Amino acid sequence: MIDEKTFTKFLNRTDIEGIVQSLGNQLNRDYEGKQVVLIGVLKGCCVFMADLSRQLKVDLEIDFVRLTSQGKGLTTPGTVSILKDISVDIRNKHVIIVEEIIDSGRTLKFLFDRIQASQPASVEVLTFLDKKDKRLVDVPVKYVGRLIEDQFLVGYGLDLEEKCRNLPEIYFLRYPN
Ligand code: IMP
Ligand code: MG
Repeated sequence: MIDEKTFTKFLNRTDIEGIVQSLGNQLNRDYEGKQVVLIGVLKGCCVFMADLSRQLKVDLEIDFVRLTSQGKGLTTPGTVSILKDISVDIRNKHVIIVEEIIDSGRTLKFLFDRIQASQPASVEVLTFLDKKDKRLVDVPVKYVGRLIEDQFLVGYGLDLEEKCRNLPEIYFLRYPN
């Protein structure tokens, strides 16, 4: 399936494990003694969230949301709706929203505001990869694994039309079409 003319390796297992470990260390230090809820944004977060959660030594609960956004365009912001909501009680707990990659930030902004309205003790955003230059909506992202340029990546949860999420390493796709 991996054709070397199309897929170029971007991050190997050692790179990925180093980033996950560094993010885990930061969270273990910042949230020591606190009740933490990781909220993963499906589906892309699935592989990364499994790895990150196993680095954590804090009092931890895990939940997921699935969002969908329609009518995305440059001038017409899409309407975001919830396909799967959280089921744990986040009041007075420290929430960390977990993304595998942030692009425009639109879906994330919607989720951030919604979670904040449920009165957690705190809410922060963590992402494995950040295409910061593509941000269209301002969202505070506290923990970033790696800042990247605008390029299309697959593997480690990132998909190309729902495929490739299972690849253990991350590839840059030269000809996405
Ligand atoms: P946005 O930040 O609301 O524009 O959307 C971010 C979402 O787009 C991510 O959660 C991914 O599902 C998807 N996405 C963004 N960049 C990539 C990429 O390079 N490969 C695969 N999916 C991507
Ligand atoms: Mg996707």
